[in-house]
Amino acid sequence: MYKLDQNETPLFDALKEYVDRETIPFHVPGHKKGEGMDEEFRSFIGENPFKIDVTVFKLVDSLHHPTGPIKKAQQLAADAYGADATFFSIHGTSGAIQAMIMSVVSAGDKIIIPRNVHKSVTAGVILSGATPVYMQPELDKRVGIAHGVTPETVEKTLKANPDAKAVLIINPTYYGVATDIKRIADIVHSYDIPLIVDEAHGPHLGFNAKLPMSGMEAGADICAQSTHKIIGALTQCSLLQVRSKRVDVHRVQQILNLLQTTSPSYILMASLDCARRQIALHGRELLDKAISLANYAREEINKIPGFYCFGEEILGEPGVYALDPTKITITCRDLGITGYDLDMILSNKYHIQMEMSDLYNVLAVGSFGDTKENIDALLKALKEISQDFYGKGNKKADFIDIPNIPSQVKIPREAFNSEKVCVSLKESIGKISGEFLMAYPPGIPILCPGETITNEIIDYVQRLKETGLYVQGTEDPEVNYIKVVK
Ligand SMILES: Cc1ncc(COP(=O)(O)O)c(C=O)c1O
Repeated sequence: MYKLDQNETPLFDALKEYVDRETIPFHVPGHKKGEGMDEEFRSFIGENPFKIDVTVFKLVDSLHHPTGPIKKAQQLAADAYGADATFFSIHGTSGAIQAMIMSVVSAGDKIIIPRNVHKSVTAGVILSGATPVYMQPELDKRVGIAHGVTPETVEKTLKANPDAKAVLIINPTYYGVATDIKRIADIVHSYDIPLIVDEAHGPHLGFNAKLPMSGMEAGADICAQSTHKIIGALTQCSLLQVRSKRVDVHRVQQILNLLQTTSPSYILMASLDCARRQIALHGRELLDKAISLANYAREEINKIPGFYCFGEEILGEPGVYALDPTKITITCRDLGITGYDLDMILSNKYHIQMEMSDLYNVLAVGSFGDTKENIDALLKALKEISQDFYGKGNKKADFIDIPNIPSQVKIPREAFNSEKVCVSLKESIGKISGEFLMAYPPGIPILCPGETITNEIIDYVQRLKETGLYVQGTEDPEVNYIKVVK
């Protein structure tokens, strides 16, 4: 099914050849194969990483102008993912998302995005100077999180904004919830504009039939995936995939060259090369194992009083078309403790570190690295925590409906670059926000830079605070003051 030999790892091989040649280094980095490195650090890390920590030269190729092993490694990745072209990002999916946005929209262009985007999307919008048009994702009040945007929402937003130049969606969400991406791709393409997919949490999707459809399979034009999050690349490593007549791959390369360092880490890039080999050759079996362990965890957690772990029963709810079972969202609302409390107890008392927490939930990320012993340790800890808190009369925090999206007076770039003053929340009504305001749950901005601050928003913030819910985004950690455009 692959056109190329996925056993090959051209970049990793070139680096090993450099090591085998016992080359004398008169190039950066200055530690020179670890010789000049701090002793404690070197002995902790071991020798090999320093030997392949090199810089740009012919044998190992250049990320900005690839003609040798990096070019070949990227072609292998494109072959594995069914893309026309793949680019390595060593600035994570954050860097890849900024590049995707800047590749398809420019100053003044409209881009349609969900309201609950990662901050790298906002960074891309600011850098490109585009005008964002927001779509509200579907809310699940039981678990207090936002799912995907529906095809209907995309269709409605495009009808109201037929001049939009691109649509971006998140698929799947951090919590592993996928929308009907195929239908969305068809709707977006009926306007002959590109669909951009933030697939930070989906680098594994195309490799096991039990997982939701990937962006590339659905016909998305360009997508970015955090290879480091789920499959075996090192932190910071992501892939940017293009399969489209609507996206100019040369422009994507140019933009990546603008944004990425001229000294990319070869250790990171080699890990991308090898992670691609691993997922291409062994992805299905490895994912089968990760999925079955995660399903075991989900079933067992649902037997523990006070915990809930959503699964297939929510399929078909708005914004929930498919689920990535490797994501384990543990809702602890019925224990009367917050997700943050649970996160802290697991970390401090049991030395179990979760991926993240919000008001109602903690998230465990399942992957190839899981073992039954580790899952059982988590289950044991959750059982003890349930005994400590369940039925002890602790009060549950309730979901408060979010206000309407306020009017946008300035585009985010203008607001970001404007002179700002700090005022109290009360005084800010009617002014243009220079900052974000986000409420947890569900982590959707209630205010973005450039939007008018309304009475409704300030009342809502007040209510959240009184209920003990979490508001953040302003420089003032107490959210008593906000920066507004002068
Ligand atoms: C939805 C989403 N998009 C993008 C990113 C950025 O990915 P990275 O950490 O690889 O830069 C994240 C990170 O958590 C994310 O959750």
